[in-house]
Amino acid sequence: MTDWDRNKRVLLDLARQGENSQCADCGAADPEWASYTLGVFICLNCSGIHRDLSGISRVKSIHLDFWDDTLVEEMRRKGNQVVKRCYEANVPPFYYKPRAADCKVLKEQWIRAKYDRKEFIAASRPQEIFTSGDRAGYLWKRGKDKGSFHQRSFHLLEKEGTLRYYSKEDGKEPRGVIQVSKMNATFQPEKIGNPNGLQITYLEDGHTRNIFVYHKSGKDIVDWFNAIRAARFRYLKMAFPTANESDEKEYFKRRWFTLDNINRKLLYFKDPLDAYTQGEVFIGNTEYGYIVTEGLPPGVKGNKWNFGLTIQTPGRRFLFTCETEQDRKEWINALKEVISKPMSCQDYTVEATLRRKQRR
Ligand SMILES: *[C@@H]1O[C@H](CO)[C@@H](O)[C@H](O)[C@H]1NC(C)=O
Ligand SMILES: *[C@@H]1O[C@H](CO)[C@@H](O)[C@H](O)[C@H]1NC(C)=O
Ligand SMILES: *[C@@H]1O[C@H](CO)[C@@H](O)[C@H](O)[C@H]1NC(C)=O
Ligand SMILES: [Zn+2]
Repeated sequence: MTDWDRNKRVLLDLARQGENSQCADCGAADPEWASYTLGVFICLNCSGIHRDLSGISRVKSIHLDFWDDTLVEEMRRKGNQVVKRCYEANVPPFYYKPRAADCKVLKEQWIRAKYDRKEFIAASRPQEIFTSGDRAGYLWKRGKDKGSFHQRSFHLLEKEGTLRYYSKEDGKEPRGVIQVSKMNATFQPEKIGNPNGLQITYLEDGHTRNIFVYHKSGKDIVDWFNAIRAARFRYLKMAFPTANESDEKEYFKRRWFTLDNINRKLLYFKDPLDAYTQGEVFIGNTEYGYIVTEGLPPGVKGNKWNFGLTIQTPGRRFLFTCETEQDRKEWINALKEVISKPMSCQDYTVEATLRRKQRR
């Protein structure tokens, strides 16, 4: 005979342990639902999305439904940590993982990409749009009169670092050219009046400008959003050797670096197409002791590459060298731009966590 009360107690206890205490898909606290086919604890919001993937995921409430022994055992064997390690093994560093307060289309596409299309399991290759940084297609763009939307052809060109759009009719001269390095995209469904509404903010001649777009397909608009992030992210990617603190003369290694200036992170990769980083350096603010300087400390030689630069952080010093003077200049300017920018509330949290880690 099944002891339903006992099973409920075991399940509720499981739901409080480790990563199970946060929704496997959006991180919301104290999830009250679970997918018993996938073996994850999820929030009410995400359970609604799982319900539409009935071929892959079946959900039950951990409070209201009855759970038999086999299902409870499955939940114990799997759980959020184990399942995430499988389905999120290979999430590209620029790919946006939605949080609890994010809009539905972001969560829905994340959940579909994860479990249905299995885009991030270890054996998967990142989608071409993310690895090439180029993308082209139609989007509906809000016109000047605000009420009407017009179909425009958009082209994201990584090499050029631009997003261009053309009207359907003439199509020769772009209606707009936006610099990827000065651009930022956020979902604004309410403001735009469409569940897939995306706001693209950019700087032009010192002014902040916006365009408002949507695509009928949730997958397409989220792919655009992540392609923009990827293109932004790859801005300033260059070959770059890295220092090893334990033996600074011998261990300068060639790596690919990219500066994520929105999240204040310098990330490095073994190969430019790698989906995951080898490491990252948080770039704080001058007031917190972050300094970037030209050159290397006395006695340190940069192997073949002679154009050194040093990033001093409160915890430690990072040394790099560049192949050319021009590369170094660009890197120093980009890093100085981040260092001179005030930190946001979220940045303080990241910085505090990193310090705590370094102290250990
Ligand atoms: C549920 O999702 C909506 C939109 O997707 C979001 O605005 C809301 O904050 C979420 N609620 C909770 C409790 O996470
Ligand atoms: C750093 O140098 C030490 C030896 O000095 C070596 O054992 C280690 O593998 C190096 N680490 C990296 C990341 O190159
Ligand atoms: C990106 O855009 C959103 C909304 O337009 C804004 O809240 C956010 O601060 C922007 N981020 C940066 C780093 O510009
Ligand atoms: Zn959730």
